Amino acid sequence: MSDVKMDILRTSDEVAKCVEALRKAGRTVALVPTMGALHAGHLSLVEAARKRGDAVIVSLFVNPVQFNDPTDLARYPRTEDADFKLLEEAGAHAVFAPSVEEIYPDGIDSARMSHTFDLGQVAEVMEGRLRPGHFQGVALIVSKLFRMVCPDRGYFGEKDFQQIAVIRRMAQTEGIDVEIVSCPICRAEDGLALSSRNSLLTPDQRNVAPEIHRALADSVEYSFDHSVGSTHDFVVERLDSRPFLRVEYFEIVDGRSLLPVRDWSESDFIVGCVTVYCGEVRLIDNIIYRKP
Ligand code: PAF
Repeated sequence: MSDVKMDILRTSDEVAKCVEALRKAGRTVALVPTMGALHAGHLSLVEAARKRGDAVIVSLFVNPVQFNDPTDLARYPRTEDADFKLLEEAGAHAVFAPSVEEIYPDGIDSARMSHTFDLGQVAEVMEGRLRPGHFQGVALIVSKLFRMVCPDRGYFGEKDFQQIAVIRRMAQTEGIDVEIVSCPICRAEDGLALSSRNSLLTPDQRNVAPEIHRALADSVEYSFDHSVGSTHDFVVERLDSRPFLRVEYFEIVDGRSLLPVRDWSESDFIVGCVTVYCGEVRLIDNIIYRKP
C-alpha cells in the first residue's frame, strides 16, 4: 500500500494542472491508458513506470469510439470504485476518469469523423480487418490522451500486440514525442492471459480458456520441426476441438510488419496472434516463435 494520496481527475483542465505541478517538481510523467476493470496486468504497467521513476497517471475510460459492436460496449465491465482503490494501492499519482462528454463534447459520431489517422498496414491486418474502425478509435483516444497529458512515456501491455504497433505508428505520423513502452503479458497461474473480459466468462468457460495459452505454448516446440502452415493448423484444430472455443483468426506474422510469414526463415521476429471466442467472450493472446 502506497502512502501517497492519489488525485482523481475528471476534466482535461484538472489533468493540465496536475501535469504542470508534476513538471514544476521536476518529475517525469508516465501515462497508462486503460478502459478500467483493472487487473494485475494493468497494475504491472503502473509498477514498471514507477520503477523507472515516473509519476504515473492512469486513464480510465471505456472508449465508445473503438467499439464496433454495441453489445460488446454495453457489457464491457465497469468497476470504477474498485479500480480507484487498486490504483491508490499501486502508487499511481493520479487517475483520469473523464465522462464521454468531456472527451467527445460534439458526440461520438462527430468524433469518429473528426480525423482519419494514417496507421498504415499494421492497422489493416488481423483486428483491423475484423473490427472496422477499431484502430481509428484507439488512435483517436490515445492521441487525445497523449496531447492532454504530454507524457514522457506511455505504457501498454503486449497482450494487445497489434495495438502497440498501431500506437507507435500513430505517434510517429501525428508527430507526438512520446516513448512507447511495451510490457510483457501477465497471466493467471493456469496461463490465461489477464483481460478485463475474463470476468465475463462462466465458470465452465473459464476452465477451458487456459487452453488458448497451452495450445500456443505447445505450438512453439511443435514449430521447431514443422512448417508454418502445419503449426497454424496445429493451434486452430486443437482450439476448435475444445468446448466453447472457436478461433476467429490465428495468424503467424512478422513481428514488425505484422504481415503473414510462410516460412520460418523469412524473419528473425515471428509472432502468432490469435483471437478466440470462448462462448460469447472474445479473447486475444499471442506467442513469440522467433525473437531477434
Ligand atoms: O487497450 C486498451 O485497454 C484500450 O484499447 C486503450 C489503449 C486504453 C484505448 O482505449
